[in-house]
Amino acid sequence: MTKHYNLFFNLAFPNKVPTKQQIKNLILKVSDLFTNLEAERPADYMNSKEVLTGYLIYFVPVNLSKIYNIFKELAMHNKFLKKNELRIIDLGCGPSPAVVPIFDLIEEGKLRINHIRYAGIDSEEKALKIGEKIVQKTKPEKVSIKAEFIKGDLLDLSLYKTLRDIKPDIIIFSNSLGEIFDKRGINIDEFINLIKPFTYKNPDLTLILIEPGTKKASMRLHGIRDNLIEKLNFYPYSPCLNNLPCSALKAKNWCYEERKWSPPEYLVFLSSVGLQINYLKFSYVVLRRDKANISDIFDTDGHIIKNTSHLLNEKGKVRLWACWNGKLIDMEKLKRDLNEDDNWLKIKKGTYFSVEGVIFLSDKKVRIPKDSEIKILYEP
Ligand SMILES: C[S@@+](CC[C@H](N)C(=O)[O-])C[C@H]1O[C@@H](n2cnc3c(N)ncnc32)[C@H](O)[C@@H]1O
Repeated sequence: MTKHYNLFFNLAFPNKVPTKQQIKNLILKVSDLFTNLEAERPADYMNSKEVLTGYLIYFVPVNLSKIYNIFKELAMHNKFLKKNELRIIDLGCGPSPAVVPIFDLIEEGKLRINHIRYAGIDSEEKALKIGEKIVQKTKPEKVSIKAEFIKGDLLDLSLYKTLRDIKPDIIIFSNSLGEIFDKRGINIDEFINLIKPFTYKNPDLTLILIEPGTKKASMRLHGIRDNLIEKLNFYPYSPCLNNLPCSALKAKNWCYEERKWSPPEYLVFLSSVGLQINYLKFSYVVLRRDKANISDIFDTDGHIIKNTSHLLNEKGKVRLWACWNGKLIDMEKLKRDLNEDDNWLKIKKGTYFSVEGVIFLSDKKVRIPKDSEIKILYEP
């Protein structure tokens, strides 16, 4: 993704290079629009030149990097690797077409796709125009693509009739669910009804939902996940390991990802003025119809677990909170049981790992014995 950062910058500032202060002001303004000023954000914010410029230099690289991370996980699975054609519908694409990370994975040899049909839908013409330019300038030569940028309303049922003909392999909502749930008041049953027709005669459909890593957005996302599993028979591919109701939600908690990120050079100075730019913070779920799961690629006989917290270094023990068999489990290893170079201390937030044996201290608390093998399976 890194190689496209200058393109985003040049599209934002075609004539004159801005000062650092101008960059900072733009980013703060656009960030504010999605946080403190969310309630006042107008529906057509992408129509504002200032917002679109700020979005291009900050949110486009951030959001496309999140999507890259997620597609990379999918590309690790055999089912996905075998594909050579891909049809993708990007709902609420804005100026960040979700097909760009696919281009990168093809160029890196992680996907073997040679033909793509892409449809990006958004209500804002200016955002679509930028998205179209980005696709034209980033498409690898060896890939053929039919790309459409469609101006439309995500709640317009007649739009979905046309989109269904595409028979998509992937439908993605990247940071657009909040816009239709919060701003347009759609409810979960209406959302299920929008998705349902895409599932007919489409056993390999993948649905990707990405939302900001805030408590509100994440809890709503996981509520939607539980409903899609229950009502449309979807099965999580990642980050979840099974189709049980979300363990975090059950515990009135929330689950989000925090992944290391190398920001564009032109943003690096922002960390010295107190802005967090070294991590991508988000919540997401990849749902499939064929029960493929990220754990299929792990080589282990142990219990497969995902760490959802940071490691907690306490007196006498090192703990973490993990998602395991539909429960949020408090796991600990006593410091006196730590081995030299112990894998327990290498587990990061989001890491998938396995353990051979545990001691149940209660139904939500377990201890790892000294001799239980811990394998790090995948560190996103
Ligand atoms: C936060 S942006 C996300 C853009 C892009 N997917 C990303 O991840 O960066 C949300 C996008 O949804 C679009 N949008 C919001 N409500 C919409 C609606 N009802 N119909 C179509 N597009 C909508 C906005 O114009 C905006 O471009």
